[in-house]
Parts: sequence; structure tokens; C-alpha cells
Amino acid sequence: MKHIEWKGRALILLDQRKLPGEITFVTCKTPQDVAASIRNMVVRGAPAIGITAAYALALSATLNRDFHADCQLLLASRPTAVNLRWAVERMRKHYDENHGTPDAMVTEAIAIHREDIEMNRKMGDFGAALFEKPVTILTHCNAGALATGGYGTALGVIRSLFRQERLKEVFADETRPYLQGARLTAFELAEAGIPHRVITDNSAGYFMAKGEIDAVITGADRIAANGDTANKIGTMMVAVLANHFEIPFYIAAPWSTFDLSLESGIDIPIEERGRNEVAFINGKSIVPDSSPVAHIGFDVTPGRLVSGFITDRGILHPLFQEDTD
Ligand code: MRU
Repeated sequence: MKHIEWKGRALILLDQRKLPGEITFVTCKTPQDVAASIRNMVVRGAPAIGITAAYALALSATLNRDFHADCQLLLASRPTAVNLRWAVERMRKHYDENHGTPDAMVTEAIAIHREDIEMNRKMGDFGAALFEKPVTILTHCNAGALATGGYGTALGVIRSLFRQERLKEVFADETRPYLQGARLTAFELAEAGIPHRVITDNSAGYFMAKGEIDAVITGADRIAANGDTANKIGTMMVAVLANHFEIPFYIAAPWSTFDLSLESGIDIPIEERGRNEVAFINGKSIVPDSSPVAHIGFDVTPGRLVSGFITDRGILHPLFQEDTD
């Protein structure tokens, strides 16, 4: 099942809002359709957002639209994942170099998609090599095939560990309120036959204290030059807990997720989403009507809490000194 599929004059996206219960697809025929799908979370996850934006700009060139206006439209669709800006800038450069030729733009979008999968496989191998004995990994949110072009970043490392028979089990945080862990990570793990348990977000400390978790691996939406990392809300709590229990905490991310123009995480734009995603479950209100809700999409884990960054170029440590061993 392809979750991002280019069909010539349309982009077909698996509707991730409906998983795991329903497999349905959204057809995007214009850059506006793609921007709406990013905004409404039909497609989500930092690299996947970048890839779909690249296809949207291929559509823009094919339809002979105002290319630069479409770039702005896409850039405004979600603020935190820098992969979106990275992909738009790459497509913009390609547009200028190729006079906006539709074929060239389609080829570039397909290349961005294909390269992302290759990078994930490399990260999988680099990450798996960090562990000698079979391990139990905790992950937060969904950094799997669905969040990328395929294979996944954090889940890519988990897939490689499983293939190499060095994975005991995965704990998947449910990830309130959008439930990326319960709905999407568990869906991918179940499909791959990888042993796992879904836990509530507030259970991580319990299992760490019992010595059941050997390492934490998550993805990232934006990594600043000092290693401060924006990822799904709740990631920082897990990093602090891991630090307390002296459990290694790794971030897996391709180079497109690094934003070296930012010295630290303080300037990373953090998405705030609407009240209803928190206040309603299955259409039922769980919060008094008069109670306001704060719904923050991402938090920033200080770089000093990160044991290492698993990238497609190898393992890096905050300040990005390359591993020499
Ligand atoms: O709001 P989302 O679902 O787009 O947030 C996704 C995450 O935070 C992922 O962990 C991150 O994008 C890494 S995906 C490889």
C-alpha cells in the first residue's frame, strides 16, 4: 500500500486521519489540495510533508500556475517541520535552473521521494549498529514509513534491528491527542510483525523505572545547530525521564531536518492547533464547554539530553562532532 503516490496529474495520499480503521485515499489535483492535506493532517510527519510539498510544486509547474505563490502557500501550511522549507527551496532552485519545465519538476519531486527512502535505510543501518545485544526500544509519536517517503527514521532503526534479530520489543507511546503512536506506529509495527505494546504517554517513567527500556529513539521536526530538537509534544518529557534513569535517548533524522541557521531551539516556530483535537474524543466532549484548552503540537528537547543523532551520514553528537570509532 503506497501512502504517497504520484499519478501524473494527481497526487494520491493515504488518509492518515482514518487509520487504523479505514484505508481511504485523498486525491490532490492542485497545490491547494496538497496544502489543505498537509494542514488537515491527511499527511503528516516531517519528511512526508516535504515530499508532498515537492509533488505539489510539480503539479504547480504542470498546471502552469504562479509557482512562487504556490511556494508561499505550501510554506504556510505547517510551521514546525523544516523539511517543508527544505523541499520547497530545493524545488524553487530546480524551477529557476530548468525554466519551470514540468518534466524536470516531476523528476525532481520523484528524486526527493526516492532519496528520502534511501536515507532512511542508511539511518536504519547506522542506528542498529549502536546496539550489540537485543534491546527494548521506546518511541514517541510516529516516525515510521507513514511519516516519511518509506521505511521510517526512528521506526527505520527499529525495522533494521528487527531484521538483524536484535530487537526484543517496542513500547509505543500513544501520543495524545492525535494518537500517532497508538494509531499509526502500532499499525506499522503490527503490519511488520514486530513485537510491541502501546502504552499511555504517562507510563514511560513506570517502565523505565522497572528497567524494561534499554533506549529511546524518536524522530524530529527541526534540529538547531546546538542539537536542540523539536519533535511531537511529549518528547522532551521522555528525554528528561531517560536522562534521569540513565537510558540513552537518540534522535533519528535525515539532513533535511537540520536547520543550522538556528543557533538554538528557542527560535523554532511551534505549532498550536485547535481546541477540538484535545477536547473531543470520537465526537464526544471530554472537557467542560467553558474550559479553555492549550494544544501545543511540539516541544523542544535540549541538545544536551540527546545521546546521539542517527543521520544518513552517521552518528552525530550535539555540536555535531562525528564519531571516530
Ligand atoms: O504532527 P505530526 O504528526 O506531523 O508530528 C510528527 C512528528 O513529530 C514526528 O515525530 C516527526 O515529524 C518525525 S517523522 C520521521
